[in-house]
Amino acid sequence: MSDTTSNGKIESHSLEVETYPPSAEFKAQANLSDSSVYWKAAQDPEAYWAGRARELKWTKPFTEVLDWSNPPFAKWFQDGELNVAANCLDRHVSNGLSDRVAIHFEGEPGDTRTITYGELTHEVKRAANMLTALGVSQGDRVAIYMPMIPETVIAMLACARLGAAHSVVFGGFSAESLRSRIDDAEAEIVITADGGHRKGRVSALKPTVDDALRIDHGDGKASTVKKVLVVKRGGNEVEMQAGRDLWWHDEISSFDGEHTAKGFPAENPLFILYTSGTTGKPKGILHTSGGYLTQAAATHSDVFDLKPESDVYWCTADVGWITGHSYVVYGPLANGATQVIYEGTPDSPDWGRWWQIVEKYKVSILYTAPTAIRSCMKVGRQVPEQYDLSSIRVLGSVGEPINPEAWRWYHEVIGGGKAPIVDTWWQTETGAMMIAPLPGLTSLKPGSAQAAQPGIDVNVVDDNGNRVDPGHGGLLTIRRPWPSMVRTIWGDDQRFIDTYWEKFGDQYFAGDGARVDEDGDIWLLGRVDDVMNVSGHRLSTTEIESSLVEHHAVAEAAVVGADDETTGQAVVAFVILKSQQQLLTPEAAEAELRQHVSAQIGAIARPRQVFIVNELPKTRSGKIMRRLLKQAAEGKEIGDTTTLADTAVMQTISARVRSEQGK
Ligand code: WTA
Repeated sequence: MSDTTSNGKIESHSLEVETYPPSAEFKAQANLSDSSVYWKAAQDPEAYWAGRARELKWTKPFTEVLDWSNPPFAKWFQDGELNVAANCLDRHVSNGLSDRVAIHFEGEPGDTRTITYGELTHEVKRAANMLTALGVSQGDRVAIYMPMIPETVIAMLACARLGAAHSVVFGGFSAESLRSRIDDAEAEIVITADGGHRKGRVSALKPTVDDALRIDHGDGKASTVKKVLVVKRGGNEVEMQAGRDLWWHDEISSFDGEHTAKGFPAENPLFILYTSGTTGKPKGILHTSGGYLTQAAATHSDVFDLKPESDVYWCTADVGWITGHSYVVYGPLANGATQVIYEGTPDSPDWGRWWQIVEKYKVSILYTAPTAIRSCMKVGRQVPEQYDLSSIRVLGSVGEPINPEAWRWYHEVIGGGKAPIVDTWWQTETGAMMIAPLPGLTSLKPGSAQAAQPGIDVNVVDDNGNRVDPGHGGLLTIRRPWPSMVRTIWGDDQRFIDTYWEKFGDQYFAGDGARVDEDGDIWLLGRVDDVMNVSGHRLSTTEIESSLVEHHAVAEAAVVGADDETTGQAVVAFVILKSQQQLLTPEAAEAELRQHVSAQIGAIARPRQVFIVNELPKTRSGKIMRRLLKQAAEGKEIGDTTTLADTAVMQTISARVRSEQGK
């Protein structure tokens, strides 16, 4: 094994895997460069996390670190009290950092706003006063359905400041999806915008809120929503329902910036975020305050090697996802970081937009998803090469396994061959990063997320929960409770137990397959359940299938996540129409059903393809063999079909897929 100290030079490691050790230069300045951090934390994880928690400001210090007396319901730092928003704002202002830029906002049309910590604190205080006047207080739930603009962050922090829980619903979700989330959380307030800018036009949001609140479930019950606050952003015309709808700028104008933050218990709910599971109903993942903030802040600092006084950090995720919660809002702001928030898409007005932003703000830490990297790769390196990306010193990846080819491109073209890439594995449920390199310590391996963070205990096990040997594949579990772990599924403790804890009892089951290599590094292998990963977003097979069968023309539907060059996986549906619908041409049916799913769940769930078939492959007991459909959708050889009730079905389906794909 040859040892070179210059990052970017490949150290020969094994036959297939090259490694990239940290450069001497990077190591010398790294926040963490002594590997004893791992074993010290492992010796006493609770003491380790208590130390990290004490980096925050507590209004009442905790004396108990972890209460695990009633597993799987963990309580961290439970007798302590803190205000999450004050930790992200007032604390920095009192430390003299009022003038530090918190947010460089870049609107898609090119408008910009620079917001310092002092200004952000002031705005959040005003918003908190406004929400208080609207009746929001500790324990309430507020739904947020917004574009990527500063008011979104302000709204979230204002809720946190009052001890109310926010439920951010991604702006791409449909009225139906929004309404079911509002209902589940029983939110009384919705904060939205007229619209936001996306792909060169205004994408309306308020009309979707109106539609959501109009939905009649047939039970005579109106929604729980009493007030809708509307931020003006898109400039599109919207209807304002008297008595219910209020303009944010009108309401907030009567409030000043005086507001004293009160401490709340560490286990006070901070937010609910809905994510797809293996059934049709999304799960409301509940996160609480002290433990969540501790781990979001600690990992943001360690994994990105953050230097708050000099770095310009940019995470491209939308706040509608967990990555936006932990690594746009809470982690960076708790650490006093300066960050970029960009409203639009990477291709507006052209594919140079992101790189122009990097150049303009001298972004030094960039955190994005493999699907975005692959899209940029497709467009070609000549685009980023027109910009000065030399400010970049750390790159991050999240959402799905990053394929080594994309990793190398990212490293070389975006990172100039010198910036380490941190591939971060975590989930909505884990709240913060769990497996990731530490850039001053880890010899990077393209495609592997590598090692559990200090204080985190992950395991790869066989079906019986026994640890697999190096070189073998198995299921990823987490052995010990961690501070930012999901506390329960909102309103459904039993589902929380069944989903994550039933399989292995004392180990959290993540739903991902993984392999451990000879060095102990972890390679993620994708979901092992019926959850798909499309462009880094989780979608449930079952949820899309139920949406399809709700369509009047559909008799039966099977959905699979087929490998896709750009999006990782793509939604492919196989549908049997009801007999009286056979007159519909397959083309018309496909178009209609794609649109139907998009309207019901949201554009991200729209199937790439819908195949109208006469039969689905089923076992003799009637179970649909999705594995075979996935192979067909990927144009692969169909594996063993002997367990099928009718072995001819797959031949017909494969022939059909091939003829479609040949078109
Ligand atoms: C997948 C996103 C491999 C994984 C933060 C997980 C990853 C699911 C990685 C969670 C990664 C996320 N390598 N797979 N670095 N990051 N995943 O809840 O399957 O939207 O279970 O959270 O994304 O998706 P979620």
